[in-house]
Amino acid sequence: MGLYGNLRDFFVYLDDDGSITGFCAMHIFWENLAEVRSLYVIEEYRRSGIGRDLVEACISEAITLDLLRIFTLTYQTEFFESVGFVVADKSGLPEKIWSDCINCPKYPDFCDEVAMIIEP
Ligand SMILES: CC(C)(COP(=O)(O)OP(=O)(O)OC[C@H]1O[C@@H](n2cnc3c(N)ncnc32)[C@H](O)[C@@H]1OP(=O)(O)O)[C@@H](O)C(=O)NCCC(=O)NCCS
Repeated sequence: MGLYGNLRDFFVYLDDDGSITGFCAMHIFWENLAEVRSLYVIEEYRRSGIGRDLVEACISEAITLDLLRIFTLTYQTEFFESVGFVVADKSGLPEKIWSDCINCPKYPDFCDEVAMIIEP
């Protein structure tokens, strides 16, 4: 249910032989807010630009839909900084907190993910 309900959020990167090498989702959150999430690149394909291409595809689609605040919650701050995101205060993302974080056992005291945002 979770997978099928979010299927159209995903960009998928394919190798020449058609095998999946990475994926990333752009989730519409609010009228002007999108989330980049579920980013993953298969280990042996990392550091070749696939992660950047995937996140940039998400950003482009968000811009097309006029979603001009794009955030992520991540441990990979250096990677997201290299794509243009900056660290943000989680309290500036109430839409995320009240729909998702509130159901997380780590919320609020043990949340160790960093909120990052880009406003293209
Ligand atoms: C984070 C991840 C998606 C990066 O994918 P990638 O395809 O290797 O990234 P790119 O090659 O596009 O990297 C672009 C730039 O980001 C930076 N970068 C990438 N991975 C990094 C890392 N682990 N630490 C620090 N900087 C990193 C580098 O500056 C890189 O530029 P370079 O070409 O000079 O090395 C990948 O390491 C991954 O799948 N990790 C496990 C899952 C994960 O943590 N997902 C994020 C969840 S929010």
